[in-house]
Amino acid sequence: MLLQVENIQKSYGDTEILKGVSLGLSRGQSKVIMGPSGTGKSTLLRCINHLTPPDGGRVFLDGEELTQKNINKMREVLAFVFQDFNLFTHLRAIDNVQIGPEKIRGMKKKEARDLALHELERVGLADRAHAYPAELSGGQQQRVSIARALAMQPKVILFDEPTSALDPELTGEVISVMSQLAADGMTMLVVSHEVNFARQAADEIIFMEGGEILEQGPPSKMFVDPQHKRTRQFLDVLGHEERGS
Ligand SMILES: Nc1ncnc2c1ncn2[C@@H]1O[C@H](COP(=O)(O)OP(=O)(O)O)[C@@H](O)[C@H]1O
Ligand SMILES: [Mg+2]
Repeated sequence: MLLQVENIQKSYGDTEILKGVSLGLSRGQSKVIMGPSGTGKSTLLRCINHLTPPDGGRVFLDGEELTQKNINKMREVLAFVFQDFNLFTHLRAIDNVQIGPEKIRGMKKKEARDLALHELERVGLADRAHAYPAELSGGQQQRVSIARALAMQPKVILFDEPTSALDPELTGEVISVMSQLAADGMTMLVVSHEVNFARQAADEIIFMEGGEILEQGPPSKMFVDPQHKRTRQFLDVLGHEERGS
């Protein structure tokens, strides 16, 4: 397993949010986490890269355990794409992408610039490289943030509802970039309710509820014949929304 997550637990006060979640991604796999709001999906992603410290459990990336000591180094190759993009608003698109390789990785300026431009090309934004975030649409901003993640040449990318802050007409461009990444062999763990993305790109759907994984399996199984009534109810509603009925 490239990413191995074992028995992650997290409470806030007396409330148990994650009740021991385990999952694994082998190299090149994409998995999509779905489940009702408040179920602990974001908390799980944040615990995986210790943005939120878990109370218990372990995370291994490429065989090495994440610890407080190596977390900065590990985060360089365990990228995170946020719901609300998190771009530096005072920096142009290309500088947002260049800053990681240059300042964190220590790449030469020219080399980091070339890499940043290459990654912007990959998300279809070479022509907007010199725009500031405020001059870009939400879909373009999210694509810049994906380019920023790619520029760190990560082993795994975690996405937390990358299209849920976008107007519906802008989700398609982000989903198509993500589907292409999955097809290119990127290893991705994606919290998303985009049924089309899950069908096209996910090797497995993980259904979470109440701080635990209720069920997981390939989309062909989960969308057609889920084992649990709760999974069926949830995915049925999503399917109807997707068809606009
Ligand atoms: N920093 C926090 N402090 C207290 N409670 C939190 C915090 N972050 C999340 N929670 C609670 O944890 C639960 C799970 O949240 P979250 O992981 O964001 O769910 P999801 O992403 O599935 O919607 C929610 O009840 C939320 O209110
Ligand atoms: Mg969330």
